[in-house]
Amino acid sequence: MNREDCAPSAFACPVESLTRDEAEAELESLAEEIARYDRLYHGSDAPELSDSEYDQLRRRNGELESRFPDLVRANSPSRRVGAPPSRGFDEVRHARPMLSLENAFNDEEVASFFTGVRNFIKELSDDPNLPIQLVAEPKIDGLSATLRYEGGRFALGATRGDGTTGENVTDNLRTLRDIPLALAGDDVPSILEVRGEVFMTRDEFRSLNQARAQAGEPIYANPRNAGAGSLRQLDSQITAKRNLNFFAYALGEVSQDIEGTYWSILQRLATWGFPINPLAEVCATVEYGLEAYRRIEMARPDLDYDIDGVVYKVNRLDWQERLGTVGRAPRWAVAHKFPAERARTRLERIQIQVGRTGALTPVAELAPVNVGGVMVSRASLHNEDEILRKDIREGDTVIVQRAGDVIPQVIEVDVGARPADSQPYDYPTTCPACGSQATREEGVAVRRCGGGLICPAQRVERLRHFVSRSAFDIEGFGGKRIEEFFNEGLIATPADIFGLEANDAESGDSLRERKGWNDKSVENLFAAITRRRVVALERFIFALGIREVGQETARLLAKTYTSLKTWRDMMLASRDNNGTAYKELIAIGQIGPKVAAEIVSFFSEPHNVEVLDDLAKEVTVEDFTAPKIDSPLSGKSIVFTGSLTVMTRLEAKARAEALGAIVASAVSSKTDLVVAGADPGSKVKKANDLGIKILDEVGWLKLIGD
Ligand code: IVH
Repeated sequence: MNREDCAPSAFACPVESLTRDEAEAELESLAEEIARYDRLYHGSDAPELSDSEYDQLRRRNGELESRFPDLVRANSPSRRVGAPPSRGFDEVRHARPMLSLENAFNDEEVASFFTGVRNFIKELSDDPNLPIQLVAEPKIDGLSATLRYEGGRFALGATRGDGTTGENVTDNLRTLRDIPLALAGDDVPSILEVRGEVFMTRDEFRSLNQARAQAGEPIYANPRNAGAGSLRQLDSQITAKRNLNFFAYALGEVSQDIEGTYWSILQRLATWGFPINPLAEVCATVEYGLEAYRRIEMARPDLDYDIDGVVYKVNRLDWQERLGTVGRAPRWAVAHKFPAERARTRLERIQIQVGRTGALTPVAELAPVNVGGVMVSRASLHNEDEILRKDIREGDTVIVQRAGDVIPQVIEVDVGARPADSQPYDYPTTCPACGSQATREEGVAVRRCGGGLICPAQRVERLRHFVSRSAFDIEGFGGKRIEEFFNEGLIATPADIFGLEANDAESGDSLRERKGWNDKSVENLFAAITRRRVVALERFIFALGIREVGQETARLLAKTYTSLKTWRDMMLASRDNNGTAYKELIAIGQIGPKVAAEIVSFFSEPHNVEVLDDLAKEVTVEDFTAPKIDSPLSGKSIVFTGSLTVMTRLEAKARAEALGAIVASAVSSKTDLVVAGADPGSKVKKANDLGIKILDEVGWLKLIGD
């Protein structure tokens, strides 16, 4: 056959008839072509090639390579499992935060959660017989994802991340059969965000692990990890092979008002083409909700996917909206977790860890044991008293328990199995890291290292906290690396982290030359650090690691003071406990004496102020911008007093906050507005004296548009 006759369909030419040069040229074009299809495959709804045509291309490539093995290209499709991985996922800021759930571990905790709901909504608190209708549904043990549809087409998919910002995994989510690429029906809002859980079935998990074991690859500990690992693949072709599933259970941003019930949302999700969990049911009261829990618990062993509890959601959407959120969790839903799983194992050793604030924490090192599908080799022992009370000793046989994401715990000792030569555990009274005295305050369970700034363990922990996800979130700078850099004197304080790159360029001994590092990993680290040179005020405050100042308090401080300068100046104004700073903090209303005292004490230590100032020179701290709320209350300080008749005080406060106000407990010169219900007391007099605007309840309702 004449070779020209072969063109353009190269396949017509038998491989044997090709010259070396021709084979080389064809391999080059095949590599390009296959790569192009790889990219297109997940990027478009209509692939240009059928699967069998695509397979033919790959087969041809393989045939050419086996005839000319020395011509195998570095970028040959046979060398790659899928499309070239991108450098990482882009960040996606969620249009509405992705919430987590508060947990309840028994019936009483569920009941008390709903008492909270009753206390919040006036109709419910006034009429104890008014039922709260719920939807009960399984809590899927997977990972949550949000799917954005624009004009009914799948436009963007992301992981939850920290709830505010997640990773763009659109290409990967596209590969899930459960996720419609175009929504069914004509009643589709132009913008629709659907949220739900991505998970791997137990069958899929078993066969994936089997294949991995055979290929000598590490196996996944449980379906949840396997699911997460599969969704977060840089190469979407790998995700495609993993057969992940999805259940929809919430909405994010929606361009229309959605009214009615959560149950009706579930039905609409189904008509749009999303799988919804078949075990979800409407329960007329909380008591019926608890019965649904038992049914779902009974069904659990027979399900083909892991669940770790039951979620109860208030069915009425208007109530959901009024209840709103507290911190990162809705007030209208709670996760009722299944009881913990337990196992017996040997406690090899008790290790004492030193935390960021010097607290000594005992940790049990265990002979690895499988607890409900997860290998556990360490468990919490809580504190000194707990060890004493349970007489836990090294070498004991113990019962370990784990529930969901909670750190495994040692709950019991099998005294009968105790070795004859066993000795009671002698809790250290000096710090294992720096040798300083470790003491306990009266009435406090924790023993603390008094080494403060000289204790290397505390310093490393502070740095670890600083780079952690909720703080500066410096990717790839986890545990071991921080410790290594600290031990080698490369970093001592947070500001040093931002000087690493410049120092590295000047130093003769670049990080690049070190064991475990190369050009790429060093560049990635520097890039991750540079990305965090601009930081939100709340993260900055949280990252300082002030005792008692968690994410919520940090956010509250950011919201109250809005800029780093204002906060810093205020805190330095007068530093003792009766001083201005302390009073300021207490006046916020949601900061108690203990927290206020810790903040004041942090600023009374000159070294801390120095650390803060050095850091502020390295980074740009963004002022707190109240979520752009077009409301007359935005940024205003408001005080409620007296009893309200339409809303409970709790709801009024939550509403004011949702409208951008700061709700304080005491009237001061900074108060903008006082809302006075019946029998208001002395606050109204004080407001009058200070010339502050006072509204009655009707005025308040008008103001908020109710
Ligand atoms: S509702 C406001 N429903 O549990 C809506 N979450 O512990 C918040 N989850 O981040 C979520 N099954 O990943 C909801 N039926 C379900 C769920 C569920 C699993 C996950 C979700 C969430 C986490 C909170």
